[in-house]
Amino acid sequence: MEPNPNLDVKAAELTPHQKLQARLREITASQPMETAWEQLWKEGTSPWDAQGVNPVVAQLVKENQIREGRVLVPGCGSGYDVVAMASPNRRVVGLDISETALQIAKAHASKCSSSEFVQFLNADFFTYNPPQKFDAIFDYTFFCAFPPSVRPQWAEKMAELLALDGELITFSHLTIEKVSRPWAFQLTSCESNIPSVFLPLSFSTYKYCLLDTFC
Ligand SMILES: C[S@@+](CC[C@H](N)C(=O)[O-])C[C@H]1O[C@@H](n2cnc3c(N)ncnc32)[C@H](O)[C@@H]1O
Repeated sequence: MEPNPNLDVKAAELTPHQKLQARLREITASQPMETAWEQLWKEGTSPWDAQGVNPVVAQLVKENQIREGRVLVPGCGSGYDVVAMASPNRRVVGLDISETALQIAKAHASKCSSSEFVQFLNADFFTYNPPQKFDAIFDYTFFCAFPPSVRPQWAEKMAELLALDGELITFSHLTIEKVSRPWAFQLTSCESNIPSVFLPLSFSTYKYCLLDTFC
């Protein structure tokens, strides 16, 4: 087949980050998400990965504003936030469906003094059945990794995993562009999704703020 010069020019114009995004769309379009996540991590196509602690988490930890007790980070990826939150009074479970992501997370944790307060588990959030409920759950770009049809299930599972007075913190990437990204969602759907998935489950309060997107 003759090379298409227009496509070549377009590919050459993409930044490294845009190339990752394009590859991510290619993988997620060609296979189910259950296997796609592992492949994305294996080949390093992880444009969401900040490769460090989220600064808001660092601030919350500094101000001791995250509940103590048992904390869950579903879809923990490289685990930076898991390790940052862990302390003798805050035992943190990092859960991910990708074994490769967890290997990265464990390698990072092994260099940190809080590693003894951390547990990483390779499991599917939706079937995860821990022996005890969690005092807090921290979700960073996990909610928005699922299509809107799955979000009520996500909320039900969150309600099941949280202790009665537990606290859920969710950070999501938003997009206002018309670009299909598996983990992003439109501001309008954010506004309409959040109350509709939370309020029927007796979550008492919710609030959200906008963060800069980097994906
Ligand atoms: C967009 S990434 C966010 C990773 C990390 N929280 C961060 O912000 O860097 C979503 C993560 O959820 C994991 N994941 C997706 N579906 C999952 C599921 N059903 N159960 C557990 N982890 C899942 C993926 O492997 C991936 O690491």
